[in-house]
This record gives sequence, structure tokens and C-alpha cells, in this order.
Amino acid sequence: MAFIEKLLREMTLDEKIGQLTMGNIGGVIHSNNPSDDDLLDDLRAGRLGSLIGIYGEAATARLQRIAVEETRLRIPLIFACDVMHGYRTIFPVPLGEASAFDPDLWERTARVAAAETRADGVTLTFAPMADVTRDPRWGRVVESPGEDPWLAAQFAAAKVKGFQGADLSRSDAVGATVKHIGAYGAVTAGRDYASVDISERQLNEVYLPPFRATAENGVAAIMPSFNDLAGVPTTASATLLRDIVRGRWGFDGVIVSDFNAVPELIKHGVAEDLAQAAALALRASVDIDMLGTAYMLGLPVALKRGDVTIEMIDEAVRRVLTLKVKLGLFERPFPAARGSAEREARALAREAGTKSPVLLKNEQSLLPLKPQQRIALIGPVLGGDLLLGGWQAAGNDVKVVTIREGLSAVMSPGTLSFAKGVDPIGDDVSGIAEAVRIAREADVVVLSIGELEGHTGEAASRADIDLPGRQRELAEAVLDTGRPTVVLLSAGRPLTLPWLFERAQAVMALWFPGIETGNAVADLLFGRANPSGKLAISWPRSVGQIPIFCGERPTGRPFSTSDMYTSGYLDTPVTPQFPFGHGLSYSRFEIGNLRTNVAAFTTADTIIIEADVSNAGAMAGEETVLLFVRDVVAWPAAPVMELRGVKKIRLAPGASGTVRFELAVKALAFPGGDLGPEVQPGEFELMVGSSAAPAALARTRIRVNG
Ligand code: NOJ
Repeated sequence: MAFIEKLLREMTLDEKIGQLTMGNIGGVIHSNNPSDDDLLDDLRAGRLGSLIGIYGEAATARLQRIAVEETRLRIPLIFACDVMHGYRTIFPVPLGEASAFDPDLWERTARVAAAETRADGVTLTFAPMADVTRDPRWGRVVESPGEDPWLAAQFAAAKVKGFQGADLSRSDAVGATVKHIGAYGAVTAGRDYASVDISERQLNEVYLPPFRATAENGVAAIMPSFNDLAGVPTTASATLLRDIVRGRWGFDGVIVSDFNAVPELIKHGVAEDLAQAAALALRASVDIDMLGTAYMLGLPVALKRGDVTIEMIDEAVRRVLTLKVKLGLFERPFPAARGSAEREARALAREAGTKSPVLLKNEQSLLPLKPQQRIALIGPVLGGDLLLGGWQAAGNDVKVVTIREGLSAVMSPGTLSFAKGVDPIGDDVSGIAEAVRIAREADVVVLSIGELEGHTGEAASRADIDLPGRQRELAEAVLDTGRPTVVLLSAGRPLTLPWLFERAQAVMALWFPGIETGNAVADLLFGRANPSGKLAISWPRSVGQIPIFCGERPTGRPFSTSDMYTSGYLDTPVTPQFPFGHGLSYSRFEIGNLRTNVAAFTTADTIIIEADVSNAGAMAGEETVLLFVRDVVAWPAAPVMELRGVKKIRLAPGASGTVRFELAVKALAFPGGDLGPEVQPGEFELMVGSSAAPAALARTRIRVNG
């Protein structure tokens, strides 16, 4: 682009490095005691190209004005922010929204978030997170789309489409950053930031596909993970970033480091000083140093030492400026006037809030409740921020509908009683007696328990993933009353609570449903909405089962109850508490008559797979039908099941219909000997059903001819 080349020719080295440096207020850069003034000095001198952590139209406008009016080259800033599940209107957390298995919903919530974000002058989001994760000890599972690479790819692609639209310069679009490439979800023992050491096959088969899906489809930016891969920090991995992402996938967008990750190369033990750290990252083709000091202070030294060239710096600057051009910032550095779509955004939050919870158990159809029943609402996790989850962007002052408010709004006066029982954390159990008292007087108990937002997310790994504080005592005391009890579980991960699943009649995993929680919960509890969420992550019985996921590789000794020399545990079943895809409905769906158009295919064909679904229940509802595949004989052996399709069908009571998958035979490929995609001729098993549980699946076989 001639315009960019002209700018590049005019830029000093400092100004070039400025474009590669992201700062924020209160976190600048070269000063140990940063202040607003330092930031402004850096800004005026062209030493900053982007900023994070700045919210509000007035704040971004003030700083943007300095950039475009007071700097020598008048290059606009990019403002960046973690818009993980909404900007002002906070939607369900990603692990929750993933449970909807609904790309259209994922895209619509991202579009609303993008419009709100852009209206504040923020033009780059650090989302979606596409990290596959099979270890719920890791706090960041809440930010992820779960355990499955295919689902994560669908999720990330839909989010990118929603955030970016067709044209990044539009007043309702923002650039998306898919993060954190480098198998972050596989950190050792679920401990955040810890090392990762996995096979190249696993990296290619499980962790990279969602990133590839977005990189090949126009995502604006990619963020490498904090961790190393077998000793090579991803921030410095030329093999991953330069060879695979840029080389093999053709990604020419921006690569932005994670927060301070470039200077941290020193602590990783691969760089001696900032200059070496900066050189490693730039050589790996990291364009922007987020909040670090390495590029600003280290790149000039690295250049003198000959560890980087000016061409490498220019290459990175070119990519940053190209993004600014695509965002339309040179023509329109300030946001267009804010549209007022608050009502629609709230309605969407309510819709997403009903589609994300997963009904785990519903014995004797305790749910849906009837409005005339006397309900005791008990528990500490009922209100406000407790229901939002982490990364609330600019959503802090937006009204959150609490569970109590949501239920009160639809119940007859005097039928709802309330007791907190205990705090979410802490040792005070003095409120349990009152909770037991109101439970005894009620027809049904709704018990709202779980984790706090702070138990999940970054730097929030847990070794025991059960109920914090004294919540178990509260729950057991309430269950001891014998009153029918519905448990609402707010959490950012599956919690290992076998005793609860044994004792409570009904349990719904809410995750963190966002600003419309109370209304969404009331819709679900009273049957105005029919639960349709499904687990995007296997739910373990105990921490000892972790990692647990449905796409395992086969063993020569698959578990059998009649042979002890098979792959199991002495002290716990081999199955999860709830499998991937599990999720009940108030309808009762039956799936059968699985068939394909023909039985044998070539690699150029598309397989037509159909199954009949009927609603044998008494309520209209939506079933999500999953398609798994298995390459029966392969080299190396293929996983026992891999998700390759999802179809939804809405059915009235008593009605039946057909779901139809069109699966290109090419989609049966997996990384072959050289890790390139390969379809190996032979027999494939197709499995279609409501979850990954063997009993929930209909099976058939097809043959692919070479
Ligand atoms: C660190 C987190 O790992 C990353 O996900 C986030 O985008 C940055 N901080 C910026 O907030």
C-alpha cells in the first residue's frame, strides 16, 4: 500500500517501535513509577501505537485526539480490550455460551458486543479465546469453548464473523484477536502459566485447528500463549508463529504478545536481557509488545547488535499500519454516534441466558416448576456480579437481574421465601438454621450455589474443584429436610460434586449467565424456555479422572467390567459424571434410523447422513444432534470419536423430523504421517446421537475407497 510505504519512509526508529508498543494508563512502559503524564509524553512522542484498559468514549477520544492532532505523523491509536462475553451488555461466559452449540447465537452476541465496543472508540478485542481444554482445574476453562477442537473452531469462527463483520471499518465492527495459540489449555496439571509438553501430533490435531480456522478466515490478530512448548515459549516460537501461522496458513494479520510476555522470555530462561527477548519475539514475528518494555527499550539495542534487521521491524510496522487502515482509523479515528439498541441487547442476553445453562439432572420431572408452588430460594450465589463471570469490560454499571428478582417477577406474592444460608466463601454457618426453616415450609427448594467469578479465569487454577467455603454444609442441611430441591450451579468449570448429583432431584449448571440471569433462570425454571444446553466439556466425578474427554485414543485394553486388566480405576468408574454433549430437556427426544445415502465413497464425495428425531415428551423443544466419526483402522490410530457435525431440530410434542448432515469425505482427514491432512481409505464409523455417551449413539459404517 503506497500510503503505508510513504509513512514508513518518514518514520524514525522510535516512531516505528512506537507502533509496535502497546501501553496503558497506569502501566507504562519505561517508568517504574508510571503516571498519566508519562503516558501522555510517550503518546505525544509517537512512542505508543495502541493502548489497552481504556474504557469510555470520552477517555478514548481524549487520547486519540492527542495521537491524531499532536504527534508528528498523526497516526491514530488502536484501543484494545478483552471483550470476552460482551462489552456493556454482558452475555454468558464462553464456556456457557459454547453449551448452546449454536453458531448463529455466538455470532449475534459478538455482533452486539462489537457495536458497543466500537461506540466507545475501542477497535480491537482480545477475543475469542479458542483454547481447547480438557482440564477443569485450569481457571481459564471458563473463557474457553471446551474440550473439542471442532466445536472450538466453529465457536471461534462465529465469534470472528460477529466481531468483524464483512468490513472492519464499519462503525459496528471491531478487529478480533484469536488467543492464545500454543496449547495453553494443556498447562501442566491445570496450573496457569505452567509449562506444556505435548506431542506434535496432539498440537496439530487438538490445539491448532481452531486457530487455523480463524487465521484462514480473516481474523485481524493472533495472540501467542504465555506458556512454553517443550522449552520454547510460544512468544518466541518462530516455528509456530513464522513457519506455521504465517508460512503454512498464510496469516498476514497482526501477532500481538500477551501481557508482558516478551520481557518474560527472560524468566522463561531463553533470553539474557530485554534486547535478546525483543529479538526472539520479533524474529518469531510478534508485531506488538503488549505492555512490555522489551520492544521500546530492547529493539534499538538488538538492532545495534545485529540480532534483528530494520526490515524485520518494518515488516511488523507494516502489519500494524495495515490493520489501522483496515479499521478505517486514518479516515475516522473517532467512533460514530452511539446507537441505542439496549433493549434488543438485553433481549439477546436473555435468549443466550436460557440457551447456555445445562440441565444435568431432573428426576421425576421436578422441573419445570409451577408458579403457585411455594418456593424457598436458598443460597449465596444469587445476585449481581456473582452471576457475571470474569472479564466484564465496561459492563460493571449495567443492571444485573438477580435470581431473586427474576423469580419474584413471575411468582404470586408471598410464595417466595429467601435465605442466604452461608456466604460463598468463609466459615460462618450461623445462617444455615434459617435456611433449613424456610426449606421445611416450602413445596420446593431452589438452591443457588457455586463458585465466585474470582475462582475462575486467569490465575485461578484450583486443585480441588468443589464448592468453596461452607456451601456443602448448607446444601447437605437443606437436602436433609427431604424437600424436593433444584440446584442452580453457578460455576466457571465443572465441579466435582458426586454427593450432590446423587442427592438433589434436579441440577442445572448455569455457568455465569450474564446480566439477564434472573429472567433467564425464571424462564427455564417455570418452563417458558425449555433447556437445550449441552456440555461442551466432560464433567469429571473426581479430580483424579482429569484430563477426561470423549476423544481419547483407543487402548489395546478398553475398559470392561468383567476383566480387571483393562483400562480403568480401582476406586472410581471410568466414565465421567456427565459426558460431553449431555444436557436434558423438558421434552424427551428419541434419535434413530441412522442412514447414509450410499455405503461407499471416494475422497471427493460428500456423505449424506440422516437420522430421525422424535419428541416423545409433552413440551415443544429443541434437540441438538451430534455427529461423531471414527476412522476404524488407521495409522497412527485415530481417536475413538471425533465431533464433525451438529444439527438442531425443533419439535412439537409428538412430532418427528429428520436431521441431515452433509459431511465432505475430506472432513474425515486427520494429521497423517507428516502431520498434513490425510484421509486414509478404509472403514469409518459414524455415530449420531444426543451426547458422547455410548448408549446415546446410533452407529453405522461406511467405506472410503482410495
Ligand atoms: C492476559 C491474558 O492472558 C490475555 O488473555 C488478555 O487478553 C491480556 N492479559 C490482556 O488483558
